[in-house]
Amino acid sequence: MTHAIVQHKVGGPEVLQWEEIHVPDPEPTQARVRHTAIGVNFIDVYHRMGKYPIPEFPITIGMEAAGVVEAVGNDVTNVAVGDRVVYATRPIGAYSEARVIDASRLVAIPDGIADQAAATLMLKGMTSAYLLTRTHVVKSGDVVLVHAAAGGMGLYLCQWAKNMGAIVIGTVSTPEKAALARAHGCDHVIDYTSEDFTAGVLEITDGRGCSVVYDGVGQATFAGSLGALATLGHMVSFGNASGSVTSIEMADLAAKSLTLSRPTLFHYTDTAPELNALATAVFSAIKDGDLTPEVRQVYALKDAALAHTDLQARATTGATILLP
Ligand SMILES: NC(=O)c1ccc[n+]([C@@H]2O[C@H](COP(=O)([O-])OP(=O)(O)OC[C@H]3O[C@@H](n4cnc5c(N)ncnc54)[C@H](OP(=O)(O)O)[C@@H]3O)[C@@H](O)[C@H]2O)c1
Repeated sequence: MTHAIVQHKVGGPEVLQWEEIHVPDPEPTQARVRHTAIGVNFIDVYHRMGKYPIPEFPITIGMEAAGVVEAVGNDVTNVAVGDRVVYATRPIGAYSEARVIDASRLVAIPDGIADQAAATLMLKGMTSAYLLTRTHVVKSGDVVLVHAAAGGMGLYLCQWAKNMGAIVIGTVSTPEKAALARAHGCDHVIDYTSEDFTAGVLEITDGRGCSVVYDGVGQATFAGSLGALATLGHMVSFGNASGSVTSIEMADLAAKSLTLSRPTLFHYTDTAPELNALATAVFSAIKDGDLTPEVRQVYALKDAALAHTDLQARATTGATILLP
């Protein structure tokens, strides 16, 4: 008997129900994966709420998981039964004990990386990789502002940027999160719930501003982030934890010749070679000591609703996983 988190309508965490499901045999290009650890990401909240469209009901959310291949279709050559694999991909469906998935989206987990750690690396790790090396190429000495620095994305972005030689400024909402962000590479931490972070960044940089802002918070921080940027700075808006940014004044960019990007992981991993290159970048960063995977919250898969409640209440730090 296989179970999954299933929802029949959009809504709050309570719509996430534990139900029995049927997992089919794989089609020729698919593999069936028995999950061992499932990554929880803010995008799951957007799907659950219907902020990002859901194709049909009933549906299972989730985009990231590690597991073991238990069957493959006839045309599959990149993975075999028994392989340890991980993925972060569309379509949604990771909050399940097992699922079928296009085999070309699977990445082999290197020896030495546990499944639970791997389940934090494909969405948050690969996103950190492309944000720091492709959307904006961080250089040694750059001043980088990372919002929600103690969050899942935040802890990975801060430590990796620091190891690239950047001066990292992080924003957080509590003293405990400030300590955690410092321990993960932040040179300076600003509590953006009690301080004006724009003024804080300008003070730290002697009025120059930062080179790049990595902003996954969205509505609450967008305008202040533009103010914190140096002339020719780069605003990288990659998420909406506080709500979506719905309008942009071009004049606000023109004021300092700013660049604005709104990137999404899945456009950087469209093809198998792109996916494998980004996954390799993450595994290399771990090997080189630039990135240390870390699981900070573990919930049973059937308690996914509780994980969502905590994530939305800003009660989690770093990466969260669900165990089937
Ligand atoms: N574009 C992409 O490719 C991509 C990929 C991965 C993730 N993302 C985005 O990155 C962001 C972070 O994702 P994550 O999974 O790592 O989540 P997370 O950072 O672990 O959790 C969100 C954090 O945002 C902060 N926050 C500020 N205002 C908030 C509000 N009103 N409600 C909830 N949280 C608020 C909180 O930190 P404080 O308490 O310190 O403020 C909270 O811990 C999300 O926007 C996500 O969509 C984008």
